[in-house]
Amino acid sequence: MSHVLVTARLPDEALGLLEAAGHEVTLLDGDGSLTSQVAGADALMSVLTDRVDRDVLAAGGGRLVVVANVAAGYDNIDLVAAEELGITVCNTPGILDESTAELAFALALMARRRTTDAEAALRSGTWDGWALDGFLGHDLHGATMGIVGWGRIGRAVARRAEAFGMRILHTSRRPADTDDPARELPLDDLLATADVVSLHLPLTDDTRGLVGADQLRRMKPTAVLVNTARGPIVDEVALADALHDGVIFGAGLDVFTDEPKVHEHLLTAPGAVLLPHIGSATVRTRTAMARTAVHNVIDVLAGRPPAHAVPRSPS
Ligand code: DGY
Repeated sequence: MSHVLVTARLPDEALGLLEAAGHEVTLLDGDGSLTSQVAGADALMSVLTDRVDRDVLAAGGGRLVVVANVAAGYDNIDLVAAEELGITVCNTPGILDESTAELAFALALMARRRTTDAEAALRSGTWDGWALDGFLGHDLHGATMGIVGWGRIGRAVARRAEAFGMRILHTSRRPADTDDPARELPLDDLLATADVVSLHLPLTDDTRGLVGADQLRRMKPTAVLVNTARGPIVDEVALADALHDGVIFGAGLDVFTDEPKVHEHLLTAPGAVLLPHIGSATVRTRTAMARTAVHNVIDVLAGRPPAHAVPRSPS
């Protein structure tokens, strides 16, 4: 029997799969550290808020063989240390694409139509009735959607945008994704042309701080930025300044640099639609993510290659 440490309560269905495979499951005790509790575990099932660093992995003491993140992203895990220690890292790609695209699209719609500012006025009692020039926003229909990161989620956003009568542009940092050259633009050109700039990139050394003051200044004053990827891809202070100074029209953010903290200038920024990292938060998607992560664990513990091993870190 193998011992699986899980850091978040899994849906019963996923837990049942582990138990049916003969594994013993322990839920992390929130009062203790991950490092102190991982000793003795053969597998660790983590979520994106767990920092699975070298100390945690080393505390696995040679027994730990797999870390299965219940997430598509894996920037919370030290891949170099995992590789050195012979620990397989798995994720859950391809499952949350539609849910995340749906939320990105909702944020685009809300930011373009100023729904957060409008709702805040209503709730605070400062709305004084319909006005011809009240809460004027911009249509999505006929506008240009600029997708940064032409992977599965970016393409799922594009399908929704097409249904809204939008023109699609995209940029990709991976040559393998350049299968639609007619609509592909360098990032700077996309920023200058798009009415909605939606980010769909993993957080890496290359993408950290990708959108800063210079990039925001390239955007149209009527444009909105949408981020459902990872907070640190955007310089939050620069974004808050851009919103306060009217450099861009709005932003729809589901992710932040220092979650669950949100920069105070963003909280007060006009045109900011802010959500607490709920891109994949539907019952169906989260259940499927947990099920997939469990299958990854079961496969590694059985000595089989898992369906979703994260590629080894570049040496
Ligand atoms: C992921 O899986 O990386 C998402 O951010 C979770 O919503």
